[in-house]
Amino acid sequence: MPREIRKPLLRVLHGESLWPPPIWLMRQAGRYLPEYRAIRAQAGDFITLCTTPALASEVTLQPVRRFGFDAAILFSDILLLPWALGQGLEYRENEGPVLPPLRDATALEMLDPQRAPAALAPISETVRRVAAALAAEHPGAALIGFAGAPFTVACYMIDGHGTKDFPATRALAYRDPSLFHGLIDLLSSATIDYLTAQIEAGADAVMLFDSWAGILPPTLFRQFVIAPARRVVGALKTRFPKLPVIGFPRMATLMLGEYTANIDVSAVGIDTTADPALAACMLPSQVAVQGNLDPLALVAGRDAMRREVKLILEAMRGRPFVFNLGHGVLPETPPEHVAELVRLVRAG
Ligand code: CP3
Repeated sequence: MPREIRKPLLRVLHGESLWPPPIWLMRQAGRYLPEYRAIRAQAGDFITLCTTPALASEVTLQPVRRFGFDAAILFSDILLLPWALGQGLEYRENEGPVLPPLRDATALEMLDPQRAPAALAPISETVRRVAAALAAEHPGAALIGFAGAPFTVACYMIDGHGTKDFPATRALAYRDPSLFHGLIDLLSSATIDYLTAQIEAGADAVMLFDSWAGILPPTLFRQFVIAPARRVVGALKTRFPKLPVIGFPRMATLMLGEYTANIDVSAVGIDTTADPALAACMLPSQVAVQGNLDPLALVAGRDAMRREVKLILEAMRGRPFVFNLGHGVLPETPPEHVAELVRLVRAG
């Protein structure tokens, strides 16, 4: 067995059911950690942090050192792709990401796929540094690369900022399907190249974040969530047949089965609203499930967290499973609760 496959996370992504299950958390690096806030202050702005390999690799490793997680996830952001394509991007304090809204063919033509690989080169360098550090310090921890799925990235590009249901994006999908398809196709190609570069730099697995998949009706879900993910994963699998891909179509609820049946994913992330027992019987037994503790149960800690963890573990016992949250760690999370969560999960 290749050395990499002995990493617990990778064993599960290859279909084994390990108990206790491996654990890592979405947004495990971030503002809830004082050591992150220190480096974030040193970097100044968020894009500089993501594109400075010395700082981004340090921040990637922090939660693995502190909690002993089974995986490090590359520290970057899904919106670095539109940034690399030439769309402006700014992260504003207390407001989140802001981009000049892309609403017409002229704005689409302004994007320049040629410039993305060079702009994203520092991110591959971060992957290389983290892979080397893990091999030396934490050989059991896998390195997860990631990208936003085309639809979720398009949501921020079109609406121009975070909203609760991206009305401008959904309106454009109906009003100008050819423009919308053009953008999704461009993002799909750029995502294939971006993830290929991360894999070549040493990522053990990659994850596709489709955080807003759940706002679409089934017809659009098939066109803009399933079809592009199928294309991206298919291209990666042709090139790297054994490379595990984790799909996360957040809030996809009743579409989760169709997503999994049509895309060659090794694991599917389920969000907080999914019943773990139902997800466990709905998804094929060789596909790992990843999730889905409520990030607010982690903030609360104590009995509330213990109860929720127990229910998730009971539902997942006996099938390939990766413990995670249903969405990212919140900034107000006490780090001690994260340490307690790791103990609870490792106690099985
Ligand atoms: O998980 C990790 O630890 C790896 C790093 C990572 C970040 N963003 C760092 C980040 C990952 C995997 C992401 C993914 C991401 N980014 C998603 C998909 C997952 C999800 O959360 O639904 C989305 C939609 C984004 C876009 C984004 N980036 C938003 C909406 C925001 C603002 C909200 C916030 O929490 O501030 C960001 C900023 C961001 N990305 C931060 C971090 C640590 C906070 C920036 C800071 O330090 O001020």
